[in-house]
Amino acid sequence: MVLIAPSLLASDFTNLGQQVALAEEGGADWIHIDVMDGHFVPNITFGPPLVKAVRRCTKLPLDVHLMIEKPERYIEMFVEAGADHLTVHYETCPHLHSTIQQIHAAGAKAGISINPSTSVSLLSDVVADAELVLVMSVNPGFGGQTFIPRTLQKLQQAAAMIKQAKPAVHLQVDGGIDEESSRAVVKAGADVLVAGSFIFGSGNIPDAVRRLRSRAMSVDA
Ligand code: DX5
Ligand code: ZN
Repeated sequence: MVLIAPSLLASDFTNLGQQVALAEEGGADWIHIDVMDGHFVPNITFGPPLVKAVRRCTKLPLDVHLMIEKPERYIEMFVEAGADHLTVHYETCPHLHSTIQQIHAAGAKAGISINPSTSVSLLSDVVADAELVLVMSVNPGFGGQTFIPRTLQKLQQAAAMIKQAKPAVHLQVDGGIDEESSRAVVKAGADVLVAGSFIFGSGNIPDAVRRLRSRAMSVDA
């Protein structure tokens, strides 16, 4: 089963409630919200008030991707705002095990993300403590970038690691996901696809969610 998580970064912010409803109509499984601080990544986006607003428009799990320095300062705030999953970056967490525990204590599921230049092998000691691993397929910070093909090898490595450590851990991929890349990433082991511009830039949001799912599901196991 492949899950589709539309990323609101590419949505029309003047109609956020409607955009979430259209994604839901197409069968979206989670709503992905990208939090950027202008330090860890060059861009600045949303904070807890936006998460709180989205929480009021949907019952779908809110999958919050924290691209921020010192994420441990904000975990409780995002969970109180309505985040169901909080994903932190390996590169921002010197005490990653403790950050994961903090996310669990706050009442959310914990994800760990790695940048394209960060080795999958660095996650071996914490993978079993998390619920999700996010392999970035672009350098985080902006939507609409081109998928980095080397990500496929990283997904294969991460899938093997997860299989050995804790098979229930989700393997998510984020960046440049469209009809073409979706098949390859699922083949490589991803089971949660984040897509921003492909879905919200498509002109028909429900149809784009459905097309992505059918491409992903067409991969032979
Ligand atoms: C990038 C974000 C992504 C972004 C993906 O840093 O983490 O979630 O929205 O956008 P697309 O699908 O347009 O590459
Ligand atoms: Zn993201």
